[in-house]
Amino acid sequence: MKKIAIFASGSGSNAENIARYFQHSENLNIECIYSNKPDAFVLQRANKYHIPTEVFNRDEFYNTNIVVDSLKAKGVDLVVLAGFLWLVPPALVNNFTIINIHPALLPKYGGKGMYGSKVHEAVVENKESESGITIHYVNEMYDDGDIIFQAKCEVFPSDSPDDVAQKVHALEYEHFPRVIEKLLLDNQ
Ligand code: GAR
Repeated sequence: MKKIAIFASGSGSNAENIARYFQHSENLNIECIYSNKPDAFVLQRANKYHIPTEVFNRDEFYNTNIVVDSLKAKGVDLVVLAGFLWLVPPALVNNFTIINIHPALLPKYGGKGMYGSKVHEAVVENKESESGITIHYVNEMYDDGDIIFQAKCEVFPSDSPDDVAQKVHALEYEHFPRVIEKLLLDNQ
């Protein structure tokens, strides 16, 4: 059984989509959903799927081994960032394979401050004709690790940032669980 942990800061629709996808899997289990926000909606979604949750604050995340030790104790094989907005500290990067989903075609529209709706606003503002998703390995910098997978969608001149967000979310829901499955379960 492969074990994953999901990190999310907000709504967690991707986390729930991954939970739904793997809920009856005999090969992959979501051990825990971690959040830096005690009131994040993702924690309610986790409860719905009976997935344990852990919440940590900034000091615990950056200045202690609490999160690393917790992941080690659970024997986590892969850490999945799904709408997690804090930079990952070296202790975590050095101990685990971590992947992230970003709602744009990196290297465009990445880096500090580029997350969620801000990305889609910038894409519309710049009159891009396409956007999409990037799933990539996580290193010590924002949105900088090797790219694993990208998928594109068209952006029309009439699209609002919300329209782009909807198209991008649809791509995320379609591809993120499959990429996780491929990374962990292929060639077993
Ligand atoms: C997702 O679109 C994800 O790609 C993005 O946050 C959203 C979270 O939505 N992540 C980033 O912007 C990371 N830089 P969700 O909470 O509904 O899954």
